[in-house]
Amino acid sequence: MCGIIGYVGDRTALPILIEGLKRLEYRGYDSAGLAVQENGKLAITKSAGRISVLEQKLNPDLAGTTGIAHTRWATHGAPTDANAHPHTDATGHIALVHNGIIENYLAIRTYLKQQGITFHSETDTEVLAQLIGHFYDGNLEQAVRQALHDLSGTYGIAVVSADEPGVVVAARRGSPLIVGIGRGEHVVASDASAILAHTSQVIYLRDGEMVTLTRDRARVTTLEAIPVAPEVQEVEWSLEQIELDGYEHYMLKEIFEQPTALENCLRGRMDPRNGIVHLGGLVDCSRELTRTKHIILTACGTAWHSALVGEYLFEELARVPTETEYASEFRYRNPVVDEGTTVIAISQSGETLDTLAALSEAKQRGALVLGVVNVVGSAVARETDAGVYLHVGPEIGVASTKAFTGQVAVLALIACYLGRRKHMSAAAASEFLAALARIPKQMEQILDRADQARAVAQQYAQRENWLYLGRGYNYPVALEGALKLKEISYIHAEGLPAAEMKHGPIALINKGMPVVFIATSGSQYDKIMNNIEEVRSRGGSVIAVATEGDRDIARCAEHVLYVPDTLEPLQPLLTSIPLQLIAYHAAVLRNCNVDKPRNLAKSVTVE
Ligand code: M6R
Repeated sequence: MCGIIGYVGDRTALPILIEGLKRLEYRGYDSAGLAVQENGKLAITKSAGRISVLEQKLNPDLAGTTGIAHTRWATHGAPTDANAHPHTDATGHIALVHNGIIENYLAIRTYLKQQGITFHSETDTEVLAQLIGHFYDGNLEQAVRQALHDLSGTYGIAVVSADEPGVVVAARRGSPLIVGIGRGEHVVASDASAILAHTSQVIYLRDGEMVTLTRDRARVTTLEAIPVAPEVQEVEWSLEQIELDGYEHYMLKEIFEQPTALENCLRGRMDPRNGIVHLGGLVDCSRELTRTKHIILTACGTAWHSALVGEYLFEELARVPTETEYASEFRYRNPVVDEGTTVIAISQSGETLDTLAALSEAKQRGALVLGVVNVVGSAVARETDAGVYLHVGPEIGVASTKAFTGQVAVLALIACYLGRRKHMSAAAASEFLAALARIPKQMEQILDRADQARAVAQQYAQRENWLYLGRGYNYPVALEGALKLKEISYIHAEGLPAAEMKHGPIALINKGMPVVFIATSGSQYDKIMNNIEEVRSRGGSVIAVATEGDRDIARCAEHVLYVPDTLEPLQPLLTSIPLQLIAYHAAVLRNCNVDKPRNLAKSVTVE
């Protein structure tokens, strides 16, 4: 959601904070600001808009070596200069940046107003800055601790005081914070991308922990002031992986990374010849998982689409009754979680608040809780009993692409792993895994023809309504194709199971309306050909994703994007790629900001 960075050390803080903000901008980008300790004061600059706007306002001569900075995605209050972080206390000596939502901010605000404090913004964050100031008597760590005790809600914060040079205090509950340990310096940030330029040695702060950083020390304690011996870990991603590498946008880079990402995801995890899946992360719960009677897959957005593919995979390969639930629904209804239920939370970032809340609900009800996560050490990874990492590398573009195919691949592996412990024969597993092993090369073949997707985008980018239709394993792909298009190009698009079209949405079809069919070979091919005819006869323009060698479809579709043949359960790994490319090119043609679409943030750490 929002991005936080703080620095303390010997170097000038300003360029480090700005560079960190640029790396974090994908997390939130409606306003930004920073505070640097300078000659016994805090130099604070804030601005609505992108970081480039903030840069124009900055005094480039700031030489202080301690500071904090923030890039915001508005929750309370519009994206204005006044609402941008940092926020300060009444004296202007304490500044704070915050990610999360303070639920009881109105009550605290009322109390502080009664104490004569004036507020300058509409944000929940300013309330916390003022509260820390209210408690401050010369010890920042103590004042932060006291203020956090009075708080309900979520936070990742970094705080500085003009009166304590060379000190940054940070704390978290519900919003991630990572401390980078350099030589004679510390960097704290909401994700590793802002730290990697300085060090790969990190401490992942846990919920309920705070850290006091000086040049030489990172002292971690609980909110109750109990010292914690933190585990120093190595970040597995490199700086090169989070750079654009010559691509115009992260989304395009990440689409093209999919063959390698999938290879990394599958590496060492399967033995096609013998039909064996090795998943180290599941070894400890293998027995319990094998006995599971009911699986619930829970996630949000794109991860929810991959979960839907997972539902079909689990039921087909492992014959375990499986359902897919939006995490936001699961957490608030009264789901049936009996003994023998396994809940699998799927999340690229591992920070999505609804997904975290759903897994905590599942845990309380006694389920075995597993995670399918990309970001190592993230909250979902830590809060689950066991799990499988995607290993597809950092995903920076707000539109999820390689995480989707990575999630589907991991779910395919888990389904096969479970299947082999139940009814699946070694021969069937062998065939399945051999097909999975071929996917990275087949992805490359699709990407070699990426221009064809651009041609489709060129023809229809100005149409404001699209439909995406698929059946079986390609029904979630239709949903995902529509989500990609709407989130980055702002075109209205709907994804549906193809047969549902005639129950209402068919009324939308008019002359030239683009209707994307995922019509690959398989058990439902004839059915989907009928649906294509239904659209054609109403004047819709059919764009088909089809299996190489299918000449029949070329006679009824205006455009055909071919993908190599694979087993039906694995088709989403291939059919999703042309749809990612169409969405990307449509957004570029409409001059949209592909990597930072309006109103969106990479990870949604608020409700
Ligand atoms: O980090 P997560 O996988 O938990 O995020 C879930 C969704 O917010 C995310 O997939 C979102 O839908 C993407 N922007 C879609 O491209």
